[in-house]
Amino acid sequence: MKFIVAAVGGSLLRPEVQERQSWLKDLSVMVKEQISPGVKLGLVVGGGSPARDSIQLVEPIINDVLALDRIGISATRLNASIIKEVFQNSGIFVSEQIPKNVTEAVTLMEKYDVVVMGGTVPGHTTDAVAIELAISSNSDKCIIATNVNKVYEEDPRNNEGAKSFDNLTFNELQKIVGPAEHSNAGISQVVDPVGVSLANKSKLTLNILDGRKIENIKNAIKGSKFEGTTVNGD
Ligand code: UTP
Repeated sequence: MKFIVAAVGGSLLRPEVQERQSWLKDLSVMVKEQISPGVKLGLVVGGGSPARDSIQLVEPIINDVLALDRIGISATRLNASIIKEVFQNSGIFVSEQIPKNVTEAVTLMEKYDVVVMGGTVPGHTTDAVAIELAISSNSDKCIIATNVNKVYEEDPRNNEGAKSFDNLTFNELQKIVGPAEHSNAGISQVVDPVGVSLANKSKLTLNILDGRKIENIKNAIKGSKFEGTTVNGD
C-alpha cells in the first residue's frame, strides 16, 4: 500500500484565487483518477481567509497565541469539510470523519481511499501536520501545495529579482524560512519552519509546488516531473 500526503494551502480557497469552483472540481477529478487499490491519499487543508479574517478580528482583543491558534484550527477544519464534501459528492471513498489528530488520521487512512483533515493542536500550521502525517504513515514524501511556483531566496512580492530553486537541502530551506518556532497565529511562510525541522529529522522529501495548477499536484502524486522545489538531503 502506498500512502501519499499533501498539504493544501488554505490560500488556494481564498476569494482572490479565481475560479475556485473549477479548482475544486478539477481537484476531485484528479484525486479520483489517482486513487487506485494500491494508492491512498491524506490531504491536510489550511485555513485561508476564514482563518486570517477570524484571527485579525480578535487579535486586538485576545493577547494569547494559543487562543488565536485554536480559532485558526477551526477554520482549517471548515475548509477540510468543504473539500471532504466535494470529494464525497464526486464518489470518492473519503472518510466522513475529519480526524483531529495524526493518529486518528493514520487509522482512517487504513480504511478509506482518502482522508481529509485540517489542523490538530496549537503551535504549528497545517504544513507541519501534513509532514507529521506523511512520517507516521510511512509515505515517501509530502507534497506542499501552495500559491507560489517555487521556493524563493526571499519573498518575490518584496523582491522581483529573487532567485528561485528547483532543489534545496533541508538545511538550506530551514535558513530561508527561519528557525523552527511558531511565534504568531496566522503568519504565513512558504513552508512552516516547524514542519521543515520535522521533515529534516525524518529525512522526508518535500515537493513544494503551485497548487493552483492541478496538473502540478497530479505530477507530484504520480512521481513525475513537476514545476516546483524538491527538498531532500543534508
Ligand atoms: P494554516 O495551516 O492555514 O496556516 O493555519 P498559514 O500558513 O497561516 O496559512 P495558509 O496556508 O497560508 O493559508 C492557520 C492558522 O491556524 C493555526 C495557526 O495559527 C495557523 O497560522 N493552526 C493551524 C494551529 O495552531 N495548529 C494547526 O495544526 C493548524
